[in-house]
Amino acid sequence: MIIAIDGPAGSGKSSLSRELAEKSDFTYLDTGAMYRALTLLCLERGIDPRDEDVVERVAQHLDISFADAPKGTEQNAEGASETGQRVFANGQEVTDAIRTAEVDENVSLVALHPNIRKIMVEKQRVFAKGANIIAEGRDIGTVVFPQAEVKVFLSADAKARATRRTIEREGGDPTAPGAAVKDKAFFEKTYADILKRDKIDEERCASPLKPALDAKLLDTTHLTLAQAVDTVLKWAEAARAQAAQ
Ligand code: DC
Repeated sequence: MIIAIDGPAGSGKSSLSRELAEKSDFTYLDTGAMYRALTLLCLERGIDPRDEDVVERVAQHLDISFADAPKGTEQNAEGASETGQRVFANGQEVTDAIRTAEVDENVSLVALHPNIRKIMVEKQRVFAKGANIIAEGRDIGTVVFPQAEVKVFLSADAKARATRRTIEREGGDPTAPGAAVKDKAFFEKTYADILKRDKIDEERCASPLKPALDAKLLDTTHLTLAQAVDTVLKWAEAARAQAAQ
């Protein structure tokens, strides 16, 4: 079975997917981390993220793998392992390096190119073959796994999303009671970046960010993580029961 979790930056996809994977027998696939790893490799090699041909060559030779982080390291000092998974690109650990402001600023540009998206989608489908998967991204229900049994499109007010992302990057847990932003200037930068990324993700021609026609919409602005998890688990149970009929 595939559970597809789509939605804009900071809508809570990572926290929700990680928690769902922990509470079920599903494997978590963070497709945003794949685009981030590709962006990082390009930046490290001085490649312009707008240069589709060169970025495509890097994508073709990109070997991504994931490993579960040891318990207790989900929120490290930099908040870098916010998905609770370690990420490797061509054998090099990039868990922390893919969550920097520089990668944030460039990743939407890399994800714009249709040929690059095709290569990444193929890698995502290989990953999911024969497995129970919770896949998180922007185009999972619409393009990558249109056959997914459960499709969820998360949303949340942009300020709420920027607040969560800032707390994560400050090493905090945005789902903890009383969690608050420490650095206001960093919050403003994160907010501006989220608005910019939303615009690029929504307006791009290849796989724009939008809910699948049969996606269930879940606004997390006023939901706790536990409430969001319960809701999706109920949808998954209903889908399983329906498939068994
Ligand atoms: O979820 P995230 O912030 O880690 O995603 C990073 C970027 O990658 C985001 O700006 C959009 C892009 N992305 C995408 O275009 N398609 C996906 N399936 C996942 C992410």
